[in-house]
Amino acid sequence: MSESPSGSFRVLVVIPTYQERENVEPIVARVRAAVPDAHVLVADDNSPDGTGAIVDRLAAADDHVHVLHREGKQGLGRAYLAGFAWGMDRGFDVLVEMDADGSHQPEQLPHLLTALEDADLVLGSRWVPGGRVENWPLHRKLISRAGTTYARLALGVPIRDVTGGYRAFRTSTLTALGLDDVASQGYCFQIDLAWRAVQRGLRVVEVPITFVERERGESKMSGAIVRESLVRVTAWGLAYRSQQVGHALRRDRAAV
Ligand code: GDD
Ligand code: MN
Repeated sequence: MSESPSGSFRVLVVIPTYQERENVEPIVARVRAAVPDAHVLVADDNSPDGTGAIVDRLAAADDHVHVLHREGKQGLGRAYLAGFAWGMDRGFDVLVEMDADGSHQPEQLPHLLTALEDADLVLGSRWVPGGRVENWPLHRKLISRAGTTYARLALGVPIRDVTGGYRAFRTSTLTALGLDDVASQGYCFQIDLAWRAVQRGLRVVEVPITFVERERGESKMSGAIVRESLVRVTAWGLAYRSQQVGHALRRDRAAV
């Protein structure tokens, strides 16, 4: 991957969309300009605002742009799983996660791809030195910081930004994670995958990003999404901790 940002790797940027009519065309154009070799797949959940039709038009005009029309709003996690399967079926080597609303700047993608040369999973991180958030209201900062801190403590993951959604995976990493039994529907999908990567001993690297809050359209973050994260992270944490206690007890017994 050294000659150009995507090098000899075939890169697919998966962009999930729900109601992103005003954002989808600019984001696709920015990805195409920032990493011209990369392909883009928009996974649209049948947005009532016509986002899918806009992408149909973009795809017809550019052979590096693709669209996956899904039946209806089924959550970010499910849209990504479908997008990953699409890309893996077509032989891409690297799959990238990126929001449609401009929060993840395509101009920073070359940094993620370069870091992937020595990693299995690269996380764009708001909470490492050099990482930033622009124009986020205080309550969103608090939810994100609290969420990432809770997940770090519950799961013991040594990652600063566990909930972030700007990521680059090697295809081999996704295979190793075992996506078939991922149940997370919403944004806790991000925690789920990062946690799986850490548990499997994969090389997870965080690179600083500047997350810019959207200017157009609305966030789909909701109370239900936060609750799903809380319930699942707590359950994973309890299972993990009881496993640890089990190991410790067996060790002690063996030592006696
Ligand atoms: N296909 C599909 N289906 N796309 C969805 C759905 C869905 O049900 N829900 C959200 N999206 C898309 C949005 O259209 C957008 O492109 C992207 O997912 C992120 O949604 P936002 O609603 O803009 O998320 P956010 O800005 O509030 O949340 C950001 O922070 C979270 C917490 O750190 C994102 O970076 C998340 O990925 C991250 O988990
Ligand atoms: Mn957003």
